[in-house]
Amino acid sequence: MTVHVPKSQFTRFEVRPLTPNIGAELLGLDLSQELDDAMIGDIRAALLAHKVVFFRDQNITRAQHLAFARRFGPLEIHPATPRDQPDPEVLRIAHGPNSRGVENNWHSDVTWRAEPSLGSILRAIDLPEVGGDTLFSDMYAAYEALSPAMKAFVCTLEAEHDIARVFAKRLNQDIEKLHEKFPVQVHPVVRTHPETGKRALYVNTGFTTRILGLSKKESDWLLDHLYSFAAVPEHVCRFRWAPGSLAFWDNRACQHYAASDYFPAVRIMERVTIAGDRPFFDPSRG
Ligand code: SIN
Repeated sequence: MTVHVPKSQFTRFEVRPLTPNIGAELLGLDLSQELDDAMIGDIRAALLAHKVVFFRDQNITRAQHLAFARRFGPLEIHPATPRDQPDPEVLRIAHGPNSRGVENNWHSDVTWRAEPSLGSILRAIDLPEVGGDTLFSDMYAAYEALSPAMKAFVCTLEAEHDIARVFAKRLNQDIEKLHEKFPVQVHPVVRTHPETGKRALYVNTGFTTRILGLSKKESDWLLDHLYSFAAVPEHVCRFRWAPGSLAFWDNRACQHYAASDYFPAVRIMERVTIAGDRPFFDPSRG
């Protein structure tokens, strides 16, 4: 059988798409080496084209993971990182017999920030025999799947994003206290990608609480309707982790969902997140 792989513009690594819409493996790269600026530019271009890119068989340390991520911009520190952790930019996501995976909802990282992250790079540390895949959904395709009238309507809307929705309980923190540090944020329901100029749906089940200007019933209905576009199989790719795998996703263009089907097996990942900018909607682009 011949597998048709679209010809890639990149000459120094192979791009193997997982689906036509979203996801590609970048093969032939060694992330333990210092990559030159042109190579970093090519990886960034592949990320913009595929929304999430994957690396296989990378034998890298935590320091090399951090160094690679820093090539794409300054890194964030997540409030869920323990204060005494030596590398505060690393968010360790660990589950096992005492904690079932809870990242099994469609979301984009830290949309509760005024300037949510550009992208996240996740490295497999310890994997279950089977299960624990991560799914990614194309938010340009989600927007494009709306009717013209719905597109025009949602482009006028803004929504609130609240850290407390997930992290008040997880961090065992009082909601008011959490909001002093991380006030509720308002972002456009459709954001213009700052680099590609494309339009992406920008509400998520993790952190969005309501759409401004609508009644609760209308807002709940519309959010549920918009959320449903993340799970459309044609918008989704599914990544099966193996030792040495990394995933690098663009939080401005896709959402992700970590399948929580491996309990009570152990799954440990480390995530490093690159700072982003304030979401905006530009009616003249996209
Ligand atoms: C996350 O939600 O950032 C974690 C994804 C995963 O563990 O696969």
